[in-house]
Amino acid sequence: MILVTGATGNVGRHVVSALLDKGADVRALTRDPASAGLPEGAEVVRGDLADPAGLDAALEGVESVFLVWPTLSADHAAPATIDAIAGRARHIVYLSARGVSHDLEQEPESILGSHARIERLIRGSGPEWTFLRAGGFAANTLMWAQQIRDTGVVRWFHGNAARSLIHERDIAAVGVSALAGKDHHGAAYVLTGPETLTQAEQVTTIGEAIGRPLRWEELPPDIARRQMLAQGWPPSLVEGMLGAHAATVTVPERVTSTVEEITGTPATTFRQWATDHAHDFR
Ligand SMILES: NC(=O)c1ccc[n+]([C@@H]2O[C@H](COP(=O)([O-])OP(=O)(O)OC[C@H]3O[C@@H](n4cnc5c(N)ncnc54)[C@H](OP(=O)(O)O)[C@@H]3O)[C@@H](O)[C@H]2O)c1
Repeated sequence: MILVTGATGNVGRHVVSALLDKGADVRALTRDPASAGLPEGAEVVRGDLADPAGLDAALEGVESVFLVWPTLSADHAAPATIDAIAGRARHIVYLSARGVSHDLEQEPESILGSHARIERLIRGSGPEWTFLRAGGFAANTLMWAQQIRDTGVVRWFHGNAARSLIHERDIAAVGVSALAGKDHHGAAYVLTGPETLTQAEQVTTIGEAIGRPLRWEELPPDIARRQMLAQGWPPSLVEGMLGAHAATVTVPERVTSTVEEITGTPATTFRQWATDHAHDFR
C-alpha cells in the first residue's frame, strides 16, 4: 500500500493516477474526501498532516509514502508527523524544492527553510528516503489565467526572467519510479523542465496554445510587491519570488536531464504543458 499525500494537488493527482495505472494499491490523503474528486481505484482517507495523532488510519499497513508537505502552515507538527510516518513506512519519497541546502534551516520563515527542515527530519527518521527537489512548476503560470481570460494581457514583473519550468506530471513520473524500487534510496534529484523560457516567452506560448495572441506588460517590482501583499501572500514568499526572478534575468535557470535519466522519457516542454492546460486559459 502506498500513501499519497497532497493527492488533490498539482503533483499528487498525477502520482495517484500513475500508480493506479501500474496496478498499485493507493491510499490518497485529503482533508476533505467529499470534494477531493479522486479516481475510484484509490482508497480516499481523511487526514491532516498538522494533526499527527489523527493519521493512524491513513498509515495502517502502508509500505511507502509520497509526501507533499504544506510548507510553513503545518511546520509546528512536523517532528511528530514525520515520526508517525517513519513508524510505519519503509520508504518516503518527499516533494522538496530546488535550492534546498542545510544552511537554509536558519531561515524558518522561508519555504526553502521549511523544506530543508523536513528533509533533515526525514533523513534522521529511519526509513529509506528519496528527495525530489523540483524547480518551479509550469502550473505556477495558472496564476495568470484570470488576466489572460479577461484582458489578453499579463501584467507581471521581470518578463526577462528565464526559467526552466517543469510539468507537474514529470515530477510525479519520477516519484512513481522512485516508489517502485530501491535504486533511488538516498538520492536527492534536482528536477527541471527541458528548456529555459523567459516569462514573456511563456505568455506567448500560452497564447499560441489557446489560439489567441497575448501580450506581456512589465510591472515594476515595487507595484507587484504591493499587489501580492494586498492579496494576502506571505511576505517571505513575495520577497523570495521577487529575488529569485530578478536573479534569473541575469543568470537563466539551469536545466537538468534527471527526468529523462530516471523515466526514460524527455521532460515535457512548456508548449506541451500549455496545450494540456489550454482549457484553464480560455
Ligand atoms: N510551485 C512550485 O513552483 C514548487 C516548486 C518546488 C516545490 N514545490 C512544493 O510543492 C508542494 C506543493 O505541491 P502541489 O503544487 O502539488 O500542491 P498544491 O496543488 O499546492 O496542493 C496542496 C496539497 O496539499 C494538501 N494539503 C494542504 N494542507 C494540508 C494539510 N494540513 N494536511 C494534509 N494535506 C494538506 C492539499 O490537500 P487537501 O486540500 O485535499 O487536504 C493539496 O493536495 C509544496 O510543498 C511546495 O513548496 C512547489
